[in-house]
Order: sequence, then structure tokens, then C-alpha cells
Amino acid sequence: MRGPVIKQFPIAWRRFLGTYHAIAGQASRLSLTLHSRLAARLFPAASRLLNRALLTRKAAGCSASANLLLTIFTALVFLAVPISRAAGLPPVFSPGAVWPDTGGQSINAHGGGILFHDGTYYWYGEFKSGKTILPDCNKSWGGTRVDVVGVSCYSSTNLYDWKNEGIVLPAVPGDPQSDLYPGKVLERPKVIYNHATRQFIMWMHIDSADYAAARAGVAVSQLPTGPFKYLGSFRPNAGVGSEDDAVSARITSPTSRPALDPPDGQMSRDLTVFADDDGQAYLFYSSEGNPTMHVSRLSADYLHADGPYRRLFIGRSMEAPVVFKHAGRYYLIASGCSAWAPNAARSAVADSIMGPWTELGNPCLGPDATNTFHSQGTCVFAVAGRDDLLIFMADRWDQWNLPDSRYIWLPLEFSPGGKPVLRWQDHWSLNIRNAISPAARGHRVVETVNTHVNIQKRIEFHRLMHPPKLPETRESAPCQSAGLGDIIPA
Ligand code: GAL
Repeated sequence: MRGPVIKQFPIAWRRFLGTYHAIAGQASRLSLTLHSRLAARLFPAASRLLNRALLTRKAAGCSASANLLLTIFTALVFLAVPISRAAGLPPVFSPGAVWPDTGGQSINAHGGGILFHDGTYYWYGEFKSGKTILPDCNKSWGGTRVDVVGVSCYSSTNLYDWKNEGIVLPAVPGDPQSDLYPGKVLERPKVIYNHATRQFIMWMHIDSADYAAARAGVAVSQLPTGPFKYLGSFRPNAGVGSEDDAVSARITSPTSRPALDPPDGQMSRDLTVFADDDGQAYLFYSSEGNPTMHVSRLSADYLHADGPYRRLFIGRSMEAPVVFKHAGRYYLIASGCSAWAPNAARSAVADSIMGPWTELGNPCLGPDATNTFHSQGTCVFAVAGRDDLLIFMADRWDQWNLPDSRYIWLPLEFSPGGKPVLRWQDHWSLNIRNAISPAARGHRVVETVNTHVNIQKRIEFHRLMHPPKLPETRESAPCQSAGLGDIIPA
């Protein structure tokens, strides 16, 4: 009898190991989900290790002992939360960690923005779920995607705990002609409040799966938590002509000039909106096939971008625009163009939002400054009641598993000369004082950087010129029908 038992043993052992791996895998995922700020505070080293494991994608294939460690960590996390709550430890932000909402689910609001209204913060973003695929039409530049589900909204009064308010602008699965059809693109939703009309206005990048449509979409709601009514998409400023045409005609390269003023309006991809203190709102969008950004005044109801507009950062290929005001001046932080792959952020300042804008260079300092700490900016917002704290929000995209993309929140500082500065923090809290030094709260910018367009252009990752390296075998799928009116290829 002994023989067969020994013979069976390796199989049983293998079965046991298989089951153990499955359970431990679940447990490690759970531990990451439960990797709350409190646990992170109690076990900073372990939490850093987990983040790194996740970032380098080693967690998926980890060994039995690694899984065992993760399981032990899970157990500690279970204990850590009640212990740390009882101990009254202050909460922290843990950039790059899984960030559970108040229901215990990971916050799902990518490319997002924050609106502060009547004492509550609202976080709107792209709800990403399902399998990440690489459509054939985007293979040359690594444009992976998931189907559009809609725009999610979370609310918070303390910026740490976010309640899921649901999908406030859902996709329209039944209608392939709709801009909100799951096979198309809906990115970077931003919401501003119009005090005159008492409406919440959402602007977003609408596109075909191959990003050729390049349009701006707009939706409106009576409540911050929706539902938002989708009003449609368009290319801004059709036939308006840029305010600075006379200037730009002199300095624009002959190749980018023909992209201007197409009869159906300006191409509009990555975008953001900014409402100024005087109630005037502006739309910033990457245009002319992406090399040049535009800023356009919005109509009084914030629903139309019909000029006037200005061309900014000509030939600099800026994406992911983030605009904010500080000490009476306007600031912009943007990325270069390298699809989901991170690159070095740029910053700029202006006395008038319509320009001229002066580039101030990369705001990030320290390790990983050259790739914005593995992320791409999406919003900067002021903490209510604090003149010493602005928060920079970014996305750490996971190109091959987009729903698992993470959030990077960092306090924004200013250099003595008045340049925006971002430094990595493993954990930080709102208890931070004087992130913006008293001197910098009313500063004038004296530093500038040499932004010679041609030199910068050479080092730029332009998605068409330098497509990111792709792994050899990836699932791909044909593009969905674009169906968005006249499509002018980028
Ligand atoms: C990025 C852009 C994202 C998304 C992505 C697609 O450059 O900022 O919003 O469009 O490209 O690859």
C-alpha cells in the first residue's frame, strides 16, 4: 500500500501546490486590494515591496514562498486596519498603490479630474474594465484599449475616502453611430460648474478606435453626481481662425501649417477645461495632429468652443494638459506624446491664459523625474481652505492591463524662483504644511529654460516617429467602425 501512496504523493503535492498557488494568488490580490493607507503606514517597507512587485509585474508569476509572504502580509493587513484605526493613525496618500473606495473596490476613474462643489470633492474619470486589446489599426504605436463603459464619479469630503457615485455618463452599447459606443474612445473627462446656468458641464475627448476622429464631446447635468446628458461632439473653432494667425504663420513649419483650419474645425484630442475666477472658461486641446496645443474661450454657458482661440507650444507635441491658477498666474503641466508610455512632463506659466506662455521645463525632481514617476498628469487642484497646498494627479498607465492603471497624487511645490516642482513621496498626508512656501504664494517667476523647438523636437517621443517597443505576441482585434462624421487622418 505504501508504494502507491508514495507514487500518488507528487501528484497530490502538485495538486495541493496548484490549489495553494490559486488561493495564495487570490490572497495576494486581496492583500493588494486591502493595501489601504493605514496598512501602508504600519508596514511601509512591505507596502513598498508590494508596489514594486506589482509595478514590475512580478506578482503574477511569483513563487510559493513569495505568495506565502503575501498571504502573511494579507493577514497582517486584516489586523492592521482595525489596530491602526483604533490607534487613531492619520490617513496617508500612497501614490501608485491600489486605492480602495469606501466600499472596498479599487477606485476606477482614470484620466480624471476633480471638482470641488459645496464642500464636497467629486472625482470624475474613465471607468476602465474588461480585457485590454491592441486593435490592428493602432499596432504601429501601441494604442491598446478597453471598450468604453462610461464616466465614473466618486465623492469625498476629506480626499482620502471616496464613495462610488456610479457611472454618471454611461456608454451606449446599442448604437454604433453614437459617440458613446463602447468600440470608440472616451477619455479625460473634466467637469466644471457654471454658476450662471447652475449646470455641471463635462468635456471629454471623443474619438474613433484609431484616434482619427479627434473630437471634443460635451455633456451636462443638474447634479454633480449626474446623470449627465450627452450633447454631442465636434471639432472646435470651425472657420474661426486663430487669434495669432499672423504670428503663427511666421513661425510654423510648412508641414504643420496645412493641418490648420480644416473646414470642419480643429482636431481635438487630449483636453482639459479651466474655469477662471471671473466665470470665463477655457478649453485646452492637443491639435493639428498633436504637435500644437490650442486654447479656446468657451461660450458663457460653457457648452461651445467657438473662439477666439490661440495656438500654443507650436510643434512641441504636448498632451495631457493640466491647467491651474496660482498666485494670480496661470500654469500648465503637460506630457510629451508617447501614447501610454510615460515621458518627461513639461511646465509653463502665463500672465494671461490666452498667452504668451513661457516654458519652465520638467517640474519633476529626483529619481524617475524623466518619466514623471512612471505616470502622466491629468489634473491639479487646490485643497479647499489651504493656500499652501495644490495636488497634482496623474495616471500610472498599465498599457497591457488598462483597468489596473494606478493613480499618482503628489503635493505640488514651487521653487524659490516660482517654478512648479514635483517630488516623489511614498506616502504623504494633508498634514503636510507649506508645500508651497509662504514666499512662493505670491511669487513672480524668474527662471526660464531654453526651449528651442528643434532641439526639443529631436529628443521628443513622437508616437509616429518612435513607437513604443511592443512585446511579440499580443492579442489584437480589428478596429470598430469609426462612424464619427468626416474623419481626417492624423
Ligand atoms: C496618451 C493620452 C491618453 C490616451 C493614450 C492612448 O498619450 O494622453 O489619454 O489617449 O495616449 O494611447
